[in-house]
Amino acid sequence: MQTTTERPQTEVNNEADFLPLQGTDYVEFYVGNAKQAAHYYKTAFGFQSLAYSGPETGLKDRASYVIRQNKLTFMLTTPLRPDNPIADHIYKHGDGVKVLALKVEDATSAWNETTTRGGQSYLEPTTLQDENGRVVMSGIHTYGDTVHLFVERGDYNGVFMPGFHQLESNYNPPETGLLYVDHCVGNVGWNQMNPRVKFYEDVMGFRNILTFDDNDISTEYSALMSKVMSNGNGFVKFPINEPAEGKKKSQVEEYLDFYAGEGVQHCALATNDIVKTVRDLQSRGVEFLKIPSSYYATVLDRVGHIDEDLEPLQQLGILIDRDEEGYLLQIFSKPVEDRPTLFFEIIQRKGAKSFGKGNFKALFEALEKEQDARGNL
Ligand code: FE2
Repeated sequence: MQTTTERPQTEVNNEADFLPLQGTDYVEFYVGNAKQAAHYYKTAFGFQSLAYSGPETGLKDRASYVIRQNKLTFMLTTPLRPDNPIADHIYKHGDGVKVLALKVEDATSAWNETTTRGGQSYLEPTTLQDENGRVVMSGIHTYGDTVHLFVERGDYNGVFMPGFHQLESNYNPPETGLLYVDHCVGNVGWNQMNPRVKFYEDVMGFRNILTFDDNDISTEYSALMSKVMSNGNGFVKFPINEPAEGKKKSQVEEYLDFYAGEGVQHCALATNDIVKTVRDLQSRGVEFLKIPSSYYATVLDRVGHIDEDLEPLQQLGILIDRDEEGYLLQIFSKPVEDRPTLFFEIIQRKGAKSFGKGNFKALFEALEKEQDARGNL
């Protein structure tokens, strides 16, 4: 397999793009206790309360908390009863990402274009309306039980969308500098990467901009393969991982076992000051993977000059990589639930458009240490 270094187009070509996307609208998590999860993301990550829906707004089966930090919006949804698809999702997968919602100008066209190309409908175009305007939503299935919703906000000027009240709180911890979703990675089963790549190409008009084979992403023990899919304007990027044969069980297999299927492995959240953000997150209890100090002894030989002092990067465990266009700084959290499933990446791009290939080995060795401690390597 070949490694390509093609880059995302930065110019929008609307004529060719049958699914113009304006970015990520929100990420919805199905969780066992949305009230407590909202408290965690506010406390640990610095999100602010935005909106709420539940019994008080007329919903009988669920409660959702919407929290926001800059352009980053999370929705935390929990079931109120056992006989409910949300409850089934949590029983099977544990807490995890259900919806990657994408901003569109026309949710009806997005649904028509994708379903006529083979996308399986999750939600037919549906108009939600209140005194603040209207929002149109539609959606299709992607890997596992994960779905994409297309959100058309038009001139809606309410707090979030119809059906939601403003969520006010006396508890408002300061933000940590997180800005927007950089990319969200899906883990899929054996031999499922290429079919999923074809889905993003055929159904959603994405392009494969980078490929990593098992030589790029392998340690002494385990391996994986990955292809990065991007929409036409590069605003939405979905890398897709599948396990590869190694001496021991790969991290993707561990995920698939514990998530009981395919799903979102991590979301990368962008910041403009990773040292400040990560220092803040660590002081609030977010746990990150530990990188051996030997990594920092040689990293500048590999990446060349960087603007930052190396010492705080080493102290915090922040990784550095470079491509032809610049460099990037990144760090990976431990899983944010007891199952070894979803985690977060914090990323600061200084020109680089790639994903940290030079860090894969150090990163996966750090991951394997954790996997070994859980008895799953
Ligand atoms: Fe990533």
